Amino acid sequence: MVNDKQNLIMIVDDNPTNAKVLFEFLQASGFRVLVAKSGESALEKLQVVSPDLILLDVMMPGIDGFETCRRLKENKATQDIPVIFMTALSDVVDKVKGLTLGAVDYITKPFQPEDVRARINLHLKLCQLNQKLEQRAAELTATVEQLKQSQQRLVQSEKMSSLGQLVAGIAHEINNPTSFVQGNLTYAQKYMQDLIDHIHLYKNQASATEIAQHAAKIDFEYLLKDFPHILHSMQEGIERIGDISNSLRTFARADNMVKIPFNIHDGIDSTILILKHRLKASNTHPAIEIIRDYDDLPEVECFPGQLNQVFMNLLTNAIDALEESNVGRSYKEIIANPNFIKIKTKLNEDENNILIMIKDNGLGIPEEIKSQIFDHLFTTKVVGKGTGLGLAITQQIIVEKHGGSIEVNSIPGEGAEFVITLPIDDEFR
Ligand SMILES: Nc1ncnc2c1ncn2[C@@H]1O[C@H](COP(=O)(O)OP(=O)(O)OP(=O)(O)O)[C@@H](O)[C@H]1O
Ligand SMILES: [Mg+2]
Repeated sequence: MVNDKQNLIMIVDDNPTNAKVLFEFLQASGFRVLVAKSGESALEKLQVVSPDLILLDVMMPGIDGFETCRRLKENKATQDIPVIFMTALSDVVDKVKGLTLGAVDYITKPFQPEDVRARINLHLKLCQLNQKLEQRAAELTATVEQLKQSQQRLVQSEKMSSLGQLVAGIAHEINNPTSFVQGNLTYAQKYMQDLIDHIHLYKNQASATEIAQHAAKIDFEYLLKDFPHILHSMQEGIERIGDISNSLRTFARADNMVKIPFNIHDGIDSTILILKHRLKASNTHPAIEIIRDYDDLPEVECFPGQLNQVFMNLLTNAIDALEESNVGRSYKEIIANPNFIKIKTKLNEDENNILIMIKDNGLGIPEEIKSQIFDHLFTTKVVGKGTGLGLAITQQIIVEKHGGSIEVNSIPGEGAEFVITLPIDDEFR
């Protein structure tokens, strides 16, 4: 029962007879009742009391019921109190006007006691339900917020761990040409010293025999041939370090607030270079072949850093799938049926979109999990290897941030192919 809790009802009516009849009836029904003789008096009382429901007469001297209702709804403290208008039976216009002002219902004079009680109880109940709903909604919003925060923490820690792996990979990539330059530098220094010594012999007008003996000692003929090679190799090593540094810059471009034109091939190439350490031959598998089939594409208006993250996620997944497919296969078997990742880009026939296809010949995706791979936290990888966020983030970047789409084709056992459609600029989104 609603009136178990002794709800407080406020009657606002200038007619003492009406007010009295209602007062006695409501009190007898178990409500606490408060009467105000005018709109002004009601507004004044409402500054100190907070009834559960208001019965409001329309026709009153001073401010009428409509104006009283308007002011009630304007005030934060009173706007949620349900208001029921009391009108004469024939006043259809009044009834409608009352409802548009925010009243929840009307009762008609002369009153039918059971009707009045039923309506009051109904609206008190609705009001209670509404409060509960609002409370639940607030709880839900708080839960969603908490979830969002823990998801962000997860993404962050995921980013940090893959960042760690990347940094290690890049360090390795830089180490190679560095040690190669260093090794050659030792030879270059030795050759240089031999040459200087040789020139000194000429300068000091040494004998022809002495000069010939020294030439033989330093293997002069070989030095003349090899020295330029060594310098050339050193130059290559340094260029390689320069390439890595450029790719890092392309890969790690901070995203602006607005989209900018970007050559997506640069994004894909820099991502491949950063992943080079995972593509190279190791003692468990031969190199993974990267097959590029690039179309002549216009620049795409996008957030380059985010698209690079997409390429990173898809290429990492392809490498993981290939590594998994190598388990139990010998080096020889893999060479006979080598691992590859094919990256094809194409301008769509409508010329409004570009297509990016990333295909591997790993184990593919079993039909029964195909519908789940884009879900948050869905992973088939062991703990520590995958968090199941890569494709969810990828989808979000492609669909929500760029108005594109991403699909997957896979024949289990033969590999997987991800196809991205990306609008060239906002005009086509
Ligand atoms: N190229 C692929 N070949 C086979 N399965 C794939 C491929 N790409 C994704 N999958 C499947 O989809 C799942 C979800 O991929 P997703 O990138 O979202 O997460 P993850 O790689 O497991 O972890 P994370 O990317 O967060 O490190 C993977 O666990 C894998 O089962
Ligand atoms: Mg992944």
